[in-house]
Amino acid sequence: MIEHLYIHIPFCPNICPYCAFYKESAGRERVETFLEALLVEASSWADRLRPKTIFFGGGTPSALSIPQFEKLLGGLHERLDLSSLEEWTIEMNPATVATDKATLLRHSGINRVSMGVQSWDDSVLRSLGRTHDAAKAEESFHILRDAGFDNLSIDLIFGVPGQSLDSWRSTLDRSLRLAPEHLSAYGLTYEEDTEFFRKLGCGEMSPDEGLEADQFELTAGMLGAFGFHQYEVSNYSLTGRESRHNMAYWTGRDYLGLGPSAFSTVAGRRWRNIRETGIYSESTLSGKTAVDFEEEVTPELLTREKAAFGIRTLHGLPLDDSDKWEKELLDMQAEGLVTLIADRWILTPRGRLLADTVAEIFV
Ligand SMILES: C[S@@+](CC[C@H](N)C(=O)[O-])C[C@H]1O[C@@H](n2cnc3c(N)ncnc32)[C@H](O)[C@@H]1O
Ligand code: SF4
Repeated sequence: MIEHLYIHIPFCPNICPYCAFYKESAGRERVETFLEALLVEASSWADRLRPKTIFFGGGTPSALSIPQFEKLLGGLHERLDLSSLEEWTIEMNPATVATDKATLLRHSGINRVSMGVQSWDDSVLRSLGRTHDAAKAEESFHILRDAGFDNLSIDLIFGVPGQSLDSWRSTLDRSLRLAPEHLSAYGLTYEEDTEFFRKLGCGEMSPDEGLEADQFELTAGMLGAFGFHQYEVSNYSLTGRESRHNMAYWTGRDYLGLGPSAFSTVAGRRWRNIRETGIYSESTLSGKTAVDFEEEVTPELLTREKAAFGIRTLHGLPLDDSDKWEKELLDMQAEGLVTLIADRWILTPRGRLLADTVAEIFV
């Protein structure tokens, strides 16, 4: 039985200039057809699925209207065995949070929200092209709490040009005052095919690596003082509030992805669905395959991926699984990037800052 289900909802009311996730603007008819296709795809897996975790990601899943949510959530409840469900997360953009929607989601079994606040500084939000301000994000957080969500996560971005260390400190401080259970703090990445990438290329934007390193260090320090442990390079949680869904990815568990552009890894096969929403919907509804890429996940590839993800987590990489990278790990130990604690390789604080570079040796 597959225990982890990802559902990609590719619509956003507004497209942010730094974001490379697969998304498009929502048109009503397109959304209706997409929902029908998604439910057909879900039905086709129903007898192999008993999810412990579900993750609605995007795009902006919270951009769906209440009737659209009723159709989607009702349809999933009808088709899937949800009796083993432990964690059901939805990503929300603060601009799309309202009381009636939050209440419907909570009553339908969703028990965790990851909200894209990004910053509590309005000038940084404008630089990021966000449509909400800090006041709306704070109101949305309270709406979610009042609707009964007791597992809330906030997404933040640091390393934004023009974002001072003081601005980032205030963002961490205001996040902590709201007392979420989980925080994700991502360093801004310049993703290909985004407006920010183009601006980086022509010198209109330039990262300040020293400042970004200071912001990263401040994050672990401030959040640590409030009981948040950094269980993965970009993720901090109170004890027991780690994202179970993401931990399943990082520990190499099988998962099914539904919707356009979603990846799945099941029983040694990995595949990706067609990216374009219209073609995904049409193929699925006409009984054709929605898959546009497939590969075998060999034991060798799985070991590499588990090592690359494992080293980014608090648990690190077990010594027993690290033989083939012994030389590289010893070199990185000499450079102060990794350290051996008990029988596990763990990132040092400097290694956490350069986690992507460290993880590259495994893949
Ligand atoms: C799918 S979005 C979250 C939900 C919703 N769409 C929103 O933006 O509020 C996932 C998260 O990825 C992060 N993210 C996206 N693009 C990023 C980038 N280029 N650099 C760093 N973080 C990024 C943001 O923090 C964002 O909240
Ligand atoms: S960051 Fe969120 S709202 Fe912005 S474009 Fe990406 S998925 Fe859409």
